[in-house]
Amino acid sequence: MVIVMGPGATEQDVEAIVEVIGTAGGEAFVSRGVSRTIIGLVGDVAQFTTLDLRGMTGVADVMRVSAPYKLVSRDNHPERSTVRVGGVPIGPGTVTLIAGPCAVETPEQTLQAARMAAAAGATLLRGGAYKPRTSPYAFQGLGEAGLRILADVRERTGLPVVTEVVDAGDVALVASYADMLQVGTRNAQNFALLQAVGAAGKPVMLKRGMNATIEEWLMAAEYIAQRGNLDVVLCERGIRTFETATRNTLDVSAVPLAQRLSHLPVIVDPSHSGGHRDLVLPLTRAAIAAGADGVIIDVHPRPDQALCDGPQALVDGDLDELARVMERFPPLLGKVAA
Ligand code: E4P
Ligand code: PEP
Repeated sequence: MVIVMGPGATEQDVEAIVEVIGTAGGEAFVSRGVSRTIIGLVGDVAQFTTLDLRGMTGVADVMRVSAPYKLVSRDNHPERSTVRVGGVPIGPGTVTLIAGPCAVETPEQTLQAARMAAAAGATLLRGGAYKPRTSPYAFQGLGEAGLRILADVRERTGLPVVTEVVDAGDVALVASYADMLQVGTRNAQNFALLQAVGAAGKPVMLKRGMNATIEEWLMAAEYIAQRGNLDVVLCERGIRTFETATRNTLDVSAVPLAQRLSHLPVIVDPSHSGGHRDLVLPLTRAAIAAGADGVIIDVHPRPDQALCDGPQALVDGDLDELARVMERFPPLLGKVAA
């Protein structure tokens, strides 16, 4: 069961509900988004229906949600949500370009990649300081030194920063530098991490687990929302299939499906899906055509020297075409590039 608070609801209205539910032997989880506050109720639903929740001050609606994910379900929130990252919108009506290096390697490389991203129309900078690598011998990221580089590049370019956190113990540190926290495919069902980012007070981009069904992905988002954070963006980044010609298989159908089931924005990562530079622009077009609310793309000034994922990074010569796609495709769907 969920309670949707009206736009004028106050903190006291919310607290009064939490108290009533507690007295009735249940638990109330308050989630705040840009446009509204939703309270998820856990406990005996029959008991809750005896309370006059609808009559309480500030309450706009009370509903039973049949989906196992309640707070992120579209059932209780028919309008699609917009998440703002440092003022940049991700949501319906816009297509947001997030771009930057896969990994932060040096201050120069990060600044050059950020300038490449901005030239292509990016409004948010991506870049990993903590890298989840298959091999323990591979470059693991610069850690806090990388976060400092990102903060400095944000200062110089004005681009808000999206960066991954891989360990629940690092969430506070990463959140102190980042504008948006990223949870990667490998951690998409790390429930302690999901809860920690849910409590961190920053927007979160949740990648789909490479083996996750859409329902498992939405349940993972529910862990974040249940800790109070409705500013979650879902990212389809390709799933594992029998096909080895691509790094992962971009599940284009996940875009409209996740948008139908959840009110959260859905973006696509064509770089980690295709895994090859020449696939990134075609997959970007496919993602926008399928209705994605944004794309997140790797760029690198010298991919042959990249410490992570060089083969999928766009180079200078690709940027004009990326900029053209961002200019021309969103208007075909009645949207604008953000
Ligand atoms: C990058 O962003 C990930 O860390 C990377 O894709 C991990 O892949 P790998 O360690 O298998 O190269
Ligand atoms: C990334 O975007 O840096 C990343 C690690 O992606 P994924 O989790 O999708 O592999």
